Amino acid sequence: MKLLWILLPFSLLAQEAFISYAEYGEMLYENPRGVSCLECHGKYGEGKIILEYDDVKGKQVLKGADIRKTTLDKMVYALNTYHKVMPRYYLTDKEIKAIYDYIGLKNSLN
Ligand code: HEC
Repeated sequence: MKLLWILLPFSLLAQEAFISYAEYGEMLYENPRGVSCLECHGKYGEGKIILEYDDVKGKQVLKGADIRKTTLDKMVYALNTYHKVMPRYYLTDKEIKAIYDYIGLKNSLN
């Protein structure tokens, strides 16, 4: 019995260390060791206006792509290449898959 009281706090701590797969994906989407995907792709991956400005051609809108229907292969490719606007990330395939699944889940709940 005494041993139980000694071990109990540790088992509680251990439980808190576990997050669900969806939370893991959410965490990576919002904080992917760099600029948050959310800033440009929005809450559901629907794409968000990053910047609006006027130039000689008139009003310009810079928007993050809608990534709700992007395939996993495309996402892996997009995250491992350089773009004009989107930053280059250094995420593992497992992390990218978690982001991909998170976006899918987020949209299936809508
Ligand atoms: C600074 C804004 C910005 C951030 C931050 C950003 N993106 Fe993007 N992303 C874009 C823009 C703009 C495009 C489309 C044009 C391009 O390729 O640069 C794009 C394209 C993509 C594409 C390709 C879409 C397609 O169908 O070809 C994917 C997938 C993607 N982003 C996922 C992500 C994920 C996941 C993150 C976070 C790890 C992220 N992006 C962070 C701006 C951003």
